[in-house]
Amino acid sequence: MMSDAQSELRGRIACKTTAGLVRLVGNFFHDRYCACDRRKRVALEIIQQLLASGRRVHTTVRDFRNEPKVRPLKHLQTRFPERLQIFEANLLSPRSFEPAMHGCTVVFHVASPFLLPEKIKDGRRQLFEPAVDGTRNVLETVNGTPSVTRVVMTSTIGAMFGDYINVHQMKDETLTEEHFNTSSTVETYPYHFSKVEAEKEAWRIAKA
Ligand SMILES: NC(=O)c1ccc[n+]([C@@H]2O[C@H](COP(=O)([O-])OP(=O)(O)OC[C@H]3O[C@@H](n4cnc5c(N)ncnc54)[C@H](OP(=O)(O)O)[C@@H]3O)[C@@H](O)[C@H]2O)c1
Repeated sequence: MMSDAQSELRGRIACKTTAGLVRLVGNFFHDRYCACDRRKRVALEIIQQLLASGRRVHTTVRDFRNEPKVRPLKHLQTRFPERLQIFEANLLSPRSFEPAMHGCTVVFHVASPFLLPEKIKDGRRQLFEPAVDGTRNVLETVNGTPSVTRVVMTSTIGAMFGDYINVHQMKDETLTEEHFNTSSTVETYPYHFSKVEAEKEAWRIAKA
């Protein structure tokens, strides 16, 4: 199941598997839905590919009432009746992912806030907390859901390094999956900081 989704995702993807956790790092490009709606881009690509390959999918939205965000999923439901179920869940609400996860074997943890710098007023509240607390909430629900055997979590290249100058200090000037961004902070680059801290939290839980 994983290799299908990974190989069909466009862009460079590095992955690493330990204790059932897979890390996707890369340049994810727009899918066909984001020409008009740039939200939930990666998730829509994954959902669409899973449905097209015959899988049943449970997905979540933050708010059912947000029609523009739910519309692309409703559209997929009409194309794949009976195989896509939509649930409501918030990263900041512990246990809110339980109904969606029930009976699933693979969880793709893709939801994580991204904001352009000019929209960030409080990086800790807007980015760090939903990313890190959200990852913890999702993975704790995984641990309480016996059917789940594998988790895929989307990271980002910015979780590997903070500045291109850092790469000169690396062996053979090459980034590998062993690298984590150590220079970004919640003040200087809150998105990258949120992603690296979320990923560290995920590895901590996976190895516990
Ligand atoms: N797109 C890229 O080029 C790229 C590159 C590297 C890594 N990634 C990673 O890939 C993943 C998906 O990226 P994307 O571009 O598809 O992002 P996106 O379009 O911004 O989608 C992120 C999703 O997270 C949801 N979300 C945010 N806060 C939430 C909360 N508190 N509760 C529930 N849902 C929440 C958003 O829901 P709402 O729609 O309700 O806000 C949205 O559906 C992220 O982990 C991102 O860091 C993306």
